[in-house]
Amino acid sequence: MTAQIIDGVALSRQIRAQVAERAAKLAARGVQPGLAVLLVGEDPASAVYVRNKVKACEEHGLHSVLERHESTLSEAALLDRIAALNTDPAIHGILVQMPLPRHIDPHRIIEAIATQKDVDGFSTLSAGELMSGLPGFRPCTPYGCMKLIESTGIDLRGKHAVVIGRSNTVGKPMALLLLQANATVTVCHSATPDLALHTRQADVLVAAVGRRNTVTAGMVKDGAVVIDVGINRNDEGKLCGDVDYSTVRDVAGWITPVPGGVGPMTITMLLVNTLEAAERAATS
Ligand code: GUN
Repeated sequence: MTAQIIDGVALSRQIRAQVAERAAKLAARGVQPGLAVLLVGEDPASAVYVRNKVKACEEHGLHSVLERHESTLSEAALLDRIAALNTDPAIHGILVQMPLPRHIDPHRIIEAIATQKDVDGFSTLSAGELMSGLPGFRPCTPYGCMKLIESTGIDLRGKHAVVIGRSNTVGKPMALLLLQANATVTVCHSATPDLALHTRQADVLVAAVGRRNTVTAGMVKDGAVVIDVGINRNDEGKLCGDVDYSTVRDVAGWITPVPGGVGPMTITMLLVNTLEAAERAATS
């Protein structure tokens, strides 16, 4: 079998067009959805990510503010900025880019963001809402993975989904979203003794490890849906995921490429969350 490719660029384009339409409707009522992105320090990768987030906002009718701060910014000063943005009516979503400099406690920062503006979905309240099946903001990467799986038309009810990775930002929320969609979910991680034993049973396999070639063809069930969250570099410096794409595509039924799979969906779902934050604010 040669897998069908799940095209994250095409799906992003569709969803972003819907965001732009809904943003225009809100703008006609005098509300422009607004996202504040805060970057502390000069990490080059973070600088690229935040630029892409701001650019995506501007291209789809959302207002965005990029605040760049020196790496010496104190935790108290960052908390002050968040407090100001929490009450700013032009801002519906607040994103503090991670990682933060070591003198700033990321948990304290995330918890300071007003829940109704937590478009990253990283706060304990947002996490609790997801766990309890309440409406709230879902973390953008696993939310995007769910949209990619949905786009295959496969119903998750009764399927066995295996997630590799247990981070608070991807693995754990991914498992909860799959559970909410009625899949039977297994979460594997660095202390799982026989990874292949689990992955070979997966109808849906999500790899979120951050190590290339973690998933090879022998670890994948025929026809499985394989979602690759990894962003790594191979020996030639080319981008690659956690999945050995060239061999797994001969076994899987569906597969996301890297680049062009999960990556574009993360920013797309940030736009969706920001738009929804603005829609909720406009109707409350
Ligand atoms: N750093 C890497 N990815 C993310 C993300 O999705 N949100 C935030 N806030 N920081 C990140």
